Amino acid sequence: MKIRTIDWDKNSIKIIDQTKLPNEFNYIYLKDIKQLFAAIRSMKIRGAPALAAAGALGVVLAAYNIRRKKPGQFIKELLRVIDYLSTSRPTAVNLFWGLERMKKVIEANKNNKAEVLKSALLSEGRKIMQEDRIACRKMAKAGSRLIKNGDRVLTICNAGILATIDYGTALGVFYQAKKEKKQFRVFACETRPLLQGARLTTWELSKNHIDVTLICDSMAAVLMSEKKIDKIFVGADRIARNGDTANKVGTYNLAVLAKWHRIPFYVVAPLSSFDNNIKTGRDIPIEQRSCREITHSYFKKPIAPSGVKVFNPAFDVTGHELITAIITEKGILRFPDR
Ligand code: MRU
Repeated sequence: MKIRTIDWDKNSIKIIDQTKLPNEFNYIYLKDIKQLFAAIRSMKIRGAPALAAAGALGVVLAAYNIRRKKPGQFIKELLRVIDYLSTSRPTAVNLFWGLERMKKVIEANKNNKAEVLKSALLSEGRKIMQEDRIACRKMAKAGSRLIKNGDRVLTICNAGILATIDYGTALGVFYQAKKEKKQFRVFACETRPLLQGARLTTWELSKNHIDVTLICDSMAAVLMSEKKIDKIFVGADRIARNGDTANKVGTYNLAVLAKWHRIPFYVVAPLSSFDNNIKTGRDIPIEQRSCREITHSYFKKPIAPSGVKVFNPAFDVTGHELITAIITEKGILRFPDR
């Protein structure tokens, strides 16, 4: 299946609207920064590496839309947009990494005409996307060496095509293993409350003819205790200097269970997911999302009494001591630590 999660097209940002999947597959065009901000917040576009591209292309979009072309004003406006996009989602460091790359382009072109800066920003946006495509394929090749015939692997959330430009991190490993004709099965946790596992992972794996079985998040322990899981592969939203890793809430549960059941636990993530400014996972900002996602999403009627207190962190942190290895585009980092 050849699809692309995000691209620059017709002077707009073209994305797949992921909130409509798996029932509808639609591309939408984001024509201004407010639309992009809303698309990120509402998770029409999501997944750490895809957010790096979204942030970068957001700066390009702003450059195409800004009318004031005096260099000083133009740059001031672009920096304002970067600050604004930085407030869209806090956990995936890739978003900030993408914005930082664009800031460097602005700095390097600060004495050039607006038109020159605009085209430099577009080249950088395209470069970021191309680098992701290459990194994902390298991670996939490194990671697929860990998959053996007959393996039953478990994953959570969506770390696939839909979370990157067009291949995936954890799911990229499965695409490569399939290409190498390995026989394996995937179990996908549904991933409450926004169901990225059920809606997105099972969708893209089935479209790519990979044997996938959907489970509720709470069923992972049963499978592990019955010795039906051989390995776990997940993505990452931010990796601290000591290897502690933030990923979709529920990942930490899986890592603890994996340790108990002696199942290898692998994180697959590009170098853009590493945050060298953060010493340990305790410093990773965790996004808190709306109560309604738990009480109302995907149900015809609310599933909890009105006004009930709700706790809804979108991510959790898995300590490095629970991680068997981090698979990056530079190779496999075993037993990560400081
Ligand atoms: O809230 P989301 O859907 O953006 O969360 C995404 C994840 O947690 C992914 O596992 C992570 O971004 C890695 S994607 C390659």
